[in-house]
Amino acid sequence: MASMLKSLLFLFVIAIFTTISPSKALSRNFYANICPDVEEMVREAVEKKAKETFITIPATLRLYFHDCFVNGCDASIMIASTKQNKAEKDHEENLSLAGDGFDTVIKAKKAVDAVSNCRYKVSCADILTMATRDAIYLMGGPYYEVELGRYDGVTSTADSVEGNLPLPTDDVNNLTALFAKKGLDVDDIIVLSGSHRVGVAHCTSISHRLYGEDSTMPIDPVYASNLRKACPKDVDRNKFVFMVPNSSNVFDNAYYRNLKELKGVFESDQALYTDPRSKPFVEELATDGQLFHRAFARSMIKLGRVGVKTVSNGNIRRRCDAFN
Ligand code: HEM
Ligand SMILES: *[C@@H]1O[C@H](CO)[C@@H](O)[C@H](O)[C@H]1NC(C)=O
Ligand SMILES: *[C@@H]1O[C@H](CO)[C@@H](O)[C@H](O)[C@H]1NC(C)=O
Ligand SMILES: *[C@@H]1O[C@H](CO)[C@@H](O)[C@H](O)[C@H]1NC(C)=O
Repeated sequence: MASMLKSLLFLFVIAIFTTISPSKALSRNFYANICPDVEEMVREAVEKKAKETFITIPATLRLYFHDCFVNGCDASIMIASTKQNKAEKDHEENLSLAGDGFDTVIKAKKAVDAVSNCRYKVSCADILTMATRDAIYLMGGPYYEVELGRYDGVTSTADSVEGNLPLPTDDVNNLTALFAKKGLDVDDIIVLSGSHRVGVAHCTSISHRLYGEDSTMPIDPVYASNLRKACPKDVDRNKFVFMVPNSSNVFDNAYYRNLKELKGVFESDQALYTDPRSKPFVEELATDGQLFHRAFARSMIKLGRVGVKTVSNGNIRRRCDAFN
């Protein structure tokens, strides 16, 4: 049974790889001779952490997205601010990145560095990449082979966040322009937004939609009324709602079915269904969960190539939260 599952998994991975050509900067076996068991060590650390708190999973996924979009997938998001430097993670638009994502990477790094031949040889950027893949798989998402060989960034400033992250009020034009700068197209936006299947949104991210007069994006009235109950006007900033209410944390295509029912949590989500350019693909993903998984794996691999550092402009950090 286990071996049958394994071979099925293998077929699945092959299927994904036929749809995307290999990266020039990265490779699938980067650590084969350096630290051959690295993927297993990371997976164990993620599993352990996710058992303690489920939020580890969405937190890690979002952390990866923010890392890649600000200054490339180089773990610069992990750097802690110092008296001299306000780092990326302390920009207001860090939009409440949950601490569990950071903690996952730090724990996995510790496990890797405890093995002598691996010590200080695996980048934090690659650990975050592996941990994200494992998190997705743990909640029933697709499994895919990660590309590795990223080096860690040597700068991290709050200023560099400016203009690099999408806003929940963005429309398809805004998202298209921003994602294009990272080499991602409209289909990638639609597919990666399916990440909002899991995790939470703070009331502060949606209250303008519930009480403002300026939002013209349609919303299901019952859904809106439930959101108003969960997020009363002037609610304290720690309150949050689940991205998809009344559902288990399984990484399926329910996000797209919700968009069709006008139950997208952010305008940027709902816009994908109201805009005629993105609507047809939303419709397809809503009816075909396997298509969603295949497409998601492919877009995650593309996301992992954004702004990758090499040995000439990066290094391998000893601590993920501080420069060497
Ligand atoms: C398309 C544009 C996007 C916008 C405007 C957007 C915006 C947001 C906002 C406002 C939140 C809630 C923050 C809060 O109030 O706590 C959020 C959460 C989240 N986002 Fe996105 N996001 C986008 C794309 C993505 C992508 C591409 C990914 C992953 C590949 C992603 C993964 C997540 C996850 C997993 C959460 C939940 C985090 C948690 O529960 O801790 N998002 N996003
Ligand atoms: C996000 O930034 C705010 C300041 O804008 C800071 O208080 C908070 O601790 C930061 N969150 C994380 C997870 O670093
Ligand atoms: C988003 O796009 C609208 C037009 O569709 C434009 O008016 C607005 O300035 C854009 N916002 C950002 C943040 O680019
Ligand atoms: C879904 O959750 C909301 C609270 O967020 C609740 O008011 C509503 O009754 C629930 N609906 C169903 C069908 O369980």
